[in-house]
Amino acid sequence: MSKTNLINEFLASAYDLRIHLSEFLPIKLTDLDEFLKNAKKELANLHPGDNTINCADFYENIVGDIHLAELAAWHISSKDYISNTLKLQEIFSKGNVIDFGGGIGTHSLANAMSDNVKHVYFVDINETNRNFVQFRAKKLGLDKKISFYKSIQEVCLDKFDTIICLDVLEHLSDPSAQLDIFYERMGPNSIAVLNWYFYKGDNNEYPFHVDDIKIVEKFFNVLQTKYIEIFHPLLITTRTYRKNKYN
Ligand SMILES: C[S@@+](CC[C@H](N)C(=O)[O-])C[C@H]1O[C@@H](n2cnc3c(N)ncnc32)[C@H](O)[C@@H]1O
Repeated sequence: MSKTNLINEFLASAYDLRIHLSEFLPIKLTDLDEFLKNAKKELANLHPGDNTINCADFYENIVGDIHLAELAAWHISSKDYISNTLKLQEIFSKGNVIDFGGGIGTHSLANAMSDNVKHVYFVDINETNRNFVQFRAKKLGLDKKISFYKSIQEVCLDKFDTIICLDVLEHLSDPSAQLDIFYERMGPNSIAVLNWYFYKGDNNEYPFHVDDIKIVEKFFNVLQTKYIEIFHPLLITTRTYRKNKYN
C-alpha cells in the first residue's frame, strides 16, 4: 500500500478496528461505543495504585478485555497522535521489524502493509492482544507477514532492522534493561523507534506507569550512553535511534 493510503486508511477506520472488535469480542457495533466509553477509567481502577503489583503480572493476567477497549478507545480518539507515529514508521521501518508491546496491532499492521518491510514480529505479554492482532491480520490478509510472540526471547532472529516500542517502556519494571536487550538485538544500521511517559498523570489516571526517579535516571543513563539519536522532522515526542558507535 502507498504511504498516503496507509495513513488515510488509518484515519478513516483505524484499519477496520471497530468491525474487528465487534467480531472478535464479540459485541454488537451499536453497543461498542458504550464499551469503549469508560475503558480508560476502568483500566486505572484495576490497578491498586501502588507497587504491590508486578508490572508484567498486571498486563499478563489482570487487564483482560478492558485493556483492549482502552487501547482501542485511545487509537480512535487520538488519531493525530497515532498517525504521526505511523508517518515516522514510514520514514524508518525496513526489513525485519519487531513491534514490542504491540497492543491492538496498529503499528504492526501498518508495517506489514509497507513494501519496505520484510516481516513483522509482534510481541506482547498479553494473550488477548496477541489473539486479537492475529485475528485482525487474517482479516486484512496480512497473516503471512506477521508472527506472534509473548516475549522477545522467543523470536529466533539474531538482529532486527527496526525496533518499534511505543508507549510501552513506562509499563516495564526496569525499562533500562529493555534498552539493553534491544541493543543486543540491533545491528550497526538498525533503527529503534521509541517513546516513553514516566508519569502517572495529573490525577493518577495512569497508576500503572513507572515514575520512580532512580528507575528513570537509570533509563536515561543507558539511553544516552548506548544510543545516538537520529534527527527526524516530525514534531512529536517519539524519538529514533541507532546504536552509538562512539562509546
Ligand atoms: C500502552 S500499550 C501500547 C500498545 C502499542 N504499542 C500502542 O502504541 O498502541 C502497552 C503494551 O505493552 C504490553 N506489555 C506490557 N508489558 C510487557 C512486557 N513485559 N513484554 C511485552 N509486552 C508488554 C501490554 O500488554 C500493552 O499491550
